Amino acid sequence: MPKLPRILVYSLMIAGCLALIPPLVFARMRAVPSPNRPIHIFYDMDFQPKFKTQVGNPLFADGRAMRPPVAGTVARGESYVDVHMYEGVSGGQWAATLPAPMKLDAATLARGRQRFDIYCSACHGYAGFGDGAVNRRAMELVTNANGPVNGTQWVAAKSLHDETTRNQPMGQLFNTITHGIRNMAGYASQIPVEDRWAIAAYVKALQLSQDAAAAD
Ligand code: HEC
Repeated sequence: MPKLPRILVYSLMIAGCLALIPPLVFARMRAVPSPNRPIHIFYDMDFQPKFKTQVGNPLFADGRAMRPPVAGTVARGESYVDVHMYEGVSGGQWAATLPAPMKLDAATLARGRQRFDIYCSACHGYAGFGDGAVNRRAMELVTNANGPVNGTQWVAAKSLHDETTRNQPMGQLFNTITHGIRNMAGYASQIPVEDRWAIAAYVKALQLSQDAAAAD
């Protein structure tokens, strides 16, 4: 084997020792806590001049970087000033009519009927006599010969043709659908406001049709 030149041997030895330095430096950096930021080679958009949530900003008198909405701001689609539309009240009383942009026509009643069949008929029955499938099944469980099955409790869905309910103005029905009543839950989160009115109008029509006197 030919002898390597001395200079090369020494150079390789020195290079070998130097090569140990970076891994040792890395190892130390990983092990020893430092008050300095880590070295950041690619900045991308990591450091931007901006205010994060909950920090102070001396520009504003109250020192808050997070600005509250300007007084009187109304979120889009969330103006509830129309009490007829949103509360069913007109002139301080339950409204007897649909709110302004809506019309009491065949389309509204058809929509109301469809929504009623979906949301209300399960308990109140398609004609509103309180004889929906859920109600019938619950009554079966409650009036079992050996006592209520699994301790079932049930408040019967009211007939919408009861004296008290029959005479309620449309606005009051709207209010019941919106907020619920006693044991019945409200439907504001499931049924949009105009559909609730359409249902109320349809219930009034149901009541008229079922409770008409021969003379009518
Ligand atoms: C899960 C069953 C159930 C559903 C679905 C349901 N209701 Fe009821 N509803 C009841 C019960 C139960 C009562 C009686 C509550 C009580 O007396 O505690 C009631 C009562 C009522 C009353 C009588 C209010 C009064 O002043 O006495 C009206 C009107 C009414 N519901 C309308 C509706 C309409 C309209 C819908 C559809 C949007 C609907 N309900 C959906 C169970 C239901």
